[in-house]
Amino acid sequence: MKVCVVGTGYVGLTTGVSLAFLGHEVTCVDLDQAKVDMLAAGRCPIYEPGMEDLLAEAAPNLTFTTSYADAVPGADVVFVAVQTPSAADGSPDLRYLRSAAESVAQALDHDFTVVVNKSTVPIGSGNWVDAILRDSFQQRETRPEGAGRNSTEFAVASNPEFLREGNAIADTLYPDRIVIGSDNPRSLEVLNRLYRPIINQTFTPPTFLPRPEDANAVPLVSTDLASAELIKYAANAFLALKISYANEIGQLAAKVGADITEVARGMGLDQRIGSRFLQPGVGWGGSCFGKDTKALIATASEYNLEMPIVKAARDVNQRQRAIAVERLQDELRILKGRKIGLLGLAFKPNTDDLRDAPALDIANSLIARGARVKLHDPVATERFRIEQPELAPYLSQTIDEVFADCDAVVLVTEWGQYLELDWSKFIGLMRTPIILDGRHVLDAERMRRIGYKYIAVAG
Ligand code: UDX
Repeated sequence: MKVCVVGTGYVGLTTGVSLAFLGHEVTCVDLDQAKVDMLAAGRCPIYEPGMEDLLAEAAPNLTFTTSYADAVPGADVVFVAVQTPSAADGSPDLRYLRSAAESVAQALDHDFTVVVNKSTVPIGSGNWVDAILRDSFQQRETRPEGAGRNSTEFAVASNPEFLREGNAIADTLYPDRIVIGSDNPRSLEVLNRLYRPIINQTFTPPTFLPRPEDANAVPLVSTDLASAELIKYAANAFLALKISYANEIGQLAAKVGADITEVARGMGLDQRIGSRFLQPGVGWGGSCFGKDTKALIATASEYNLEMPIVKAARDVNQRQRAIAVERLQDELRILKGRKIGLLGLAFKPNTDDLRDAPALDIANSLIARGARVKLHDPVATERFRIEQPELAPYLSQTIDEVFADCDAVVLVTEWGQYLELDWSKFIGLMRTPIILDGRHVLDAERMRRIGYKYIAVAG
């Protein structure tokens, strides 16, 4: 099938490259010429494991352009995956979505095109995009050069994205489910056809990413527009509150002398609960959970509905960051003048994404209390320098620099390289050997045997 993807951020790029890999003919549009040039040369502008390999394997079916006129005409499906940043009041800024929809409408030229909202948009945006498309399309038709394309038809659908950064390709090719929503049955048929190779798992896996042994046919949820839009928010908020629940129980575990890691394991083995997303620690960050829980609360308030559970999940999450600093204060008594190292800046491992990263709040809070911080990340430092110029002077090139004369080191992001550190090598460099495990991933007994004072954030 012929596919156009508007926007080459995380979601758009992964969608475009994956669909091209599956054999569809894909053109990705982005207004950023530098990005388009980079992608056309086979290089990936974001840090995502495997993406450049998949780009290479998909190259014969994949084109990048800055021109809608080169990408939209003839497309069976147009995915709109542009950024929807938070506006000053916290609501998503839909400027880019509007302008993308208008540009798509100007270029539509096919007997039937499904325009798919792939950006995370407020519930109801499908109808809004539909209205923009119809207005722009009608305006175009009234102009002389627009005439003669009366057979062009289109409909809007929602196809929410569930990929995790760092696992984007596996989550796309081997997903738990695919959700498509539209009030137009023909759109649902088109999308069903588009995703057949994934639904039936009939494609030959990429050389670097074999099909998991337990991969089965992928369930397809084919529903109406509003339900598809709400599924995205409901799922993300549920994952966020699952983590916050583990963190809330963790605080009680600490008081009663229980081990939260054991408690989470014991809970998670109940198949009705499930073991994933119960990992306690400094809590969630990233571009989705914070933004989506906020948007869910905002949408509900338009209907005079409170979302007390979702609000509590957000409060607990914010509290975890404060607790990390409190734990250090409990140990060191005085934070002023102390040197504290943070290992891991990205909001989670295998990405250089710093959006809403717990490390930022923790570093700022320590600095505000007069501590001197040393910051390290194996991958995100380049981005950090650009996005966090005020914190950039505190960056360290090496792990040795972080530990040298340090009063405490906090493991904030559980990068594999930190888990494999020879911790015994660094203890001698520290002034006081305190380790605060922000993710509950280090072996407490082993750390104590080496001589560290091991403490954890939750529990
Ligand atoms: C999330 C959703 O998982 C994905 O389905 C959606 O499309 C986008 O948002 P992502 O933000 O990439 O994906 O990261 P995810 O792996 O879900 O982790 C989110 C945050 O939760 C990270 O900061 C992570 O460190 C934290 N986390 C995750 C925990 O603190 N504990 C856990 O048990 C799991």
